[in-house]
Amino acid sequence: MQSILVTGGAGYIGSHTCLELIKSGRKPIIFDNFSNASSRAIERMEELAGTEIEVVNGDVRNYEQVSKAIEDYNCEAVIHFAGLKAVGESEVRAMDYHDVNVIGTHVVLRAMKQAGIDKIVFSSSATVYGVPKFLPYTEDHPRNATSTYGQTKLSVEYMLEDVRRSGEIKNVAILRYFNPIGAHSSGRIGEAPNGIPNNLAPYVVQVACGKRDAVNIWGDDYDTPDGTGVRDYIHVVDLAQAHLAALDHLDAGKGAFTVNLGTGNGSSVKEVIAGFEKACGKSIPVSVGPRRAGDIACFYADPSSAEKLLGWTAKLNMDDMCRDQWRWQENNPNGYED
Ligand code: WQD
Repeated sequence: MQSILVTGGAGYIGSHTCLELIKSGRKPIIFDNFSNASSRAIERMEELAGTEIEVVNGDVRNYEQVSKAIEDYNCEAVIHFAGLKAVGESEVRAMDYHDVNVIGTHVVLRAMKQAGIDKIVFSSSATVYGVPKFLPYTEDHPRNATSTYGQTKLSVEYMLEDVRRSGEIKNVAILRYFNPIGAHSSGRIGEAPNGIPNNLAPYVVQVACGKRDAVNIWGDDYDTPDGTGVRDYIHVVDLAQAHLAALDHLDAGKGAFTVNLGTGNGSSVKEVIAGFEKACGKSIPVSVGPRRAGDIACFYADPSSAEKLLGWTAKLNMDDMCRDQWRWQENNPNGYED
């Protein structure tokens, strides 16, 4: 059975991907420092998978820990999720963002090279494109990140492109995620943000279950059909499955690639809120405020490369995303806490 080191495997996207890995007959080795994840997620994943899951409590900046995990479990590839991911926070903790996201990736690559493994799937982000010069974004859209968080994703993309060219790590898959939302259909695992959620969907469901008063709509005067921001939301299970397709592609010796992972459809803030109202069967209070600094009016993916290269397309729609995220929220109003 192929063992895959999954850094950040206890987190939101990592946990859903580990379940898909197990389904495909692979063995995930979760490597996580639990800085933004819960060990309860592991218990839930084991319950859903019906098997024990190997977990290493470690930090991607620690070369010895990463190397040991790869060697102890004879890992054949790495899926590298671990990183810091809050745009606002990145503007006041730039040192930490470069440390964890950029240096952490360098450490992972060093450990892979030392162990003689050369397949890596990396979590990049649509944020590397910056202000759209055209839409939908295709993979050759110029890159111009506008936040420190985005810069760190871009720096890692450059690093991966360099090590691929040098031949030190040849099989590099760069996956540019659009806006992942939703949860596992069981309602047992999902996104559990610390404190006040930065992102739209977790905030909306916290309002829907009465934990917060109203959704703050950050601007309704954008040049979009209803004036609110438009994004390409993608169900986390579709996203997780794309990682399997990426690994299959690398395993088949088809080489390095970069793809967008989105649905290709844009939804506005108001449409997302309407989707959640339908899912939870009640109206969700909103209050319209000023635009959020740094926000872009509208962006969405051209996901056709992922289909052509990997045979992957998103299958779940906004109704599925809202239903599953609401089920998770309703069953776990405090995330993995009691
Ligand atoms: C979506 C829309 C907001 C919250 C960021 C990162 C990106 C990725 C995902 C990953 C926008 C509006 C939001 C709220 C609102 N990061 N909004 N009220 O900004 O597209 O992307 O998160 O790791 O890299 O840039 O996602 O969910 O924050 O916002 O009106 O309370 O919802 O203005 O139009 P965003 P988001």
